[in-house]
Amino acid sequence: MTASTVPEVPPGAPEPVGRPAAVFALLSEYASALDKVRASGRTVGFVPTMGALHAGHQALVRRAASECDVVAVSIFVNPLQFGDPDDLERYPRLPDEDVQAAGEAGATFVLMPEVSEMFPSFPAPVPTAVTVSGLADRWEGAARPGHFSGVATVVAKLFAVTGRCRAYFGEKDYQQLAVVRRMAADLSFPVEVVGCTTVRDEDGLALSSRNVRLGAEERRAAAVLPQALAAGARAIAEGEYRPSMVEALMSQVVGEEPAVELDYAVVVDGNDLAPAISLRPDRPLRLLIAAHVGGVRLIDNIDPAAGTRGIPPPRRSVTYSATPINPTQPVMVHRSRPGPAPADDPTKGK
Ligand code: PAJ
Repeated sequence: MTASTVPEVPPGAPEPVGRPAAVFALLSEYASALDKVRASGRTVGFVPTMGALHAGHQALVRRAASECDVVAVSIFVNPLQFGDPDDLERYPRLPDEDVQAAGEAGATFVLMPEVSEMFPSFPAPVPTAVTVSGLADRWEGAARPGHFSGVATVVAKLFAVTGRCRAYFGEKDYQQLAVVRRMAADLSFPVEVVGCTTVRDEDGLALSSRNVRLGAEERRAAAVLPQALAAGARAIAEGEYRPSMVEALMSQVVGEEPAVELDYAVVVDGNDLAPAISLRPDRPLRLLIAAHVGGVRLIDNIDPAAGTRGIPPPRRSVTYSATPINPTQPVMVHRSRPGPAPADDPTKGK
């Protein structure tokens, strides 16, 4: 279905189920369809994505559909935010499945532009870029130079063509959410940025388009990321007040999984993402983690005040002593669940 066949949703039309009303390749047609929606007094929800849609993306679309009259989903693998050309090349592209998945979740319009429509000069440098300094330089920004400028540039352009709306972003990419909020406020976009809870698999791993690139053993090992975050949150809930101890605990948990190479596990201020100086309960906090599993870089985070919802209890019990008698002694004691003693092993001798 193309924009020329169904360019707009008539006022009072039932919400589409299954297929979006229109798929746009051209920014001008998309923008004028949304202008018509607003002119008829209806509100617009916007969900920007890079496709390979999963239940996490669909949760954003559903939330948008529950709060807005018309939902636009963009599907665009943004070359500006990839440092590594191989990573860009390998990024999954499933346009037909994505249009279906967006429609099933409640999308009215889908914007699916070519790179030449979004950035005509690409692969030559794109002359105009948006940079959010400070906030975007830490953590993922430090690990992936230029990444957040690429994100901010494409999101600014998408906000410009979408117009007044509520835009839904996942907390899964917590630093991205913070960068986009800052950018939208500083450039006065008429956009209300809404953060949405992370959707997780049964073992707690945050859903991500990159998870399909994990082998079976890597996929199993990756569950240590949410486990480390949950251990950090539990330590804070039990009274730990030193960020360094929470960080040490998180890295120790990851260290138990040899297939996972930790990049960072940190406690930060929930607003500016600066390293947390103290764990005072009146400050918003966030635990951030990034690691390589096989060739795949995974990130995750939680709000320690919100508990460990969606993350199952550890397979091994972890006991944490928040008040070491001697600060030079390790503060964590990891104990395996008692298993059969060797002499009791029923398989022994068979
Ligand atoms: P993408 O990775 O496709 O993610 C699109 C949106 O889905 C982002 O807001 C992301 O945080 C959210 N999301 C991903 N996994 C999620 C999960 N498990 N639970 C909840 N939300 C989840 O993020 C991007 O694309 C791009 O950087 C983009 C903003 C589209 C700019 O190119």
